[in-house]
Amino acid sequence: MYTIIDGKAISEQVKTEIAEEVKQMMAAGKRAPHLAVIIVGHDGGSETYVAHKVKSCEQVGFTSTKIMFEDNVTEIELLAKIEELNNNKELDGFIVQLPLPKHISEQKVIEAIDYRKDVDGFHPVNVGRMSIGLPCYVSATPSGIIELLKRYEIPTSGKNCVVIGRSNIVGKPVATLMMQKGYPGDATVTVCHSRTKNLKEICLQADIIIAALGMPEFLTGDMVKNGAAVIDVGTTRVPSDKTKSGFRLSGDVKFDEVAPKCSFITPVPGGVGPMTIVSLLKNTLLAAKGEIY
Ligand code: GUN
Repeated sequence: MYTIIDGKAISEQVKTEIAEEVKQMMAAGKRAPHLAVIIVGHDGGSETYVAHKVKSCEQVGFTSTKIMFEDNVTEIELLAKIEELNNNKELDGFIVQLPLPKHISEQKVIEAIDYRKDVDGFHPVNVGRMSIGLPCYVSATPSGIIELLKRYEIPTSGKNCVVIGRSNIVGKPVATLMMQKGYPGDATVTVCHSRTKNLKEICLQADIIIAALGMPEFLTGDMVKNGAAVIDVGTTRVPSDKTKSGFRLSGDVKFDEVAPKCSFITPVPGGVGPMTIVSLLKNTLLAAKGEIY
């Protein structure tokens, strides 16, 4: 029998822990942690994510500020706002929701954020510090995956971990974390991508598979060995006539086929997804406590 990893329940548990710390901070006379979120334009996905982020801040007792720009905002205007937030002493951390309109360089925007307030963990200083194992803000999805492995006590030391996907925000950082010394980590990591040969054979060697390529139901039952732990990072919107919104979220794993072979598996939705916001809250708390920089 396999265990379904309940990301929703774990995320609620971590939020309760964060809320408790906030209460203690405030009882000690400190102000509440403060997160700001910049959103540009009206991308449906981004608006939903940002609304969840703001609501989660409320749930744990953080102050949050939402800053909205229309999608014709210039890069200069956006960079000026970032500079203002970098210098705002009442603010512990902030993020710029991605994607941005094409006329704005995402890389320039990320590098303009003071790395000490970069609670998304996207700034090269944070990415670099993570890769050499120094304290830093780790980006939300990899950090959420690691937290799930930890809370379910899934063994990682000496295990074969196959990561499918090499994106900067998931594949690369999660591979780095899985190979670092300690727990969860100490795994032998293989990173696969669109040019990988013999993907099925490589996956069949895996004790842990992290599917993060963004192709619905890519990982099928014949690619997974018995007893593997499978983490599904996919969240592709696919049309559906069964939901009010007209779409549903599809993971990268063909759940019905893969689950019976697994020791542990994350569902979509309700697996990795809910953990990502919690990771952002954790980073904001760390920022407020001044524990990293
Ligand atoms: N867009 C999708 N995921 C993220 C995230 O974690 N942070 C930001 N800033 N934008 C995103």
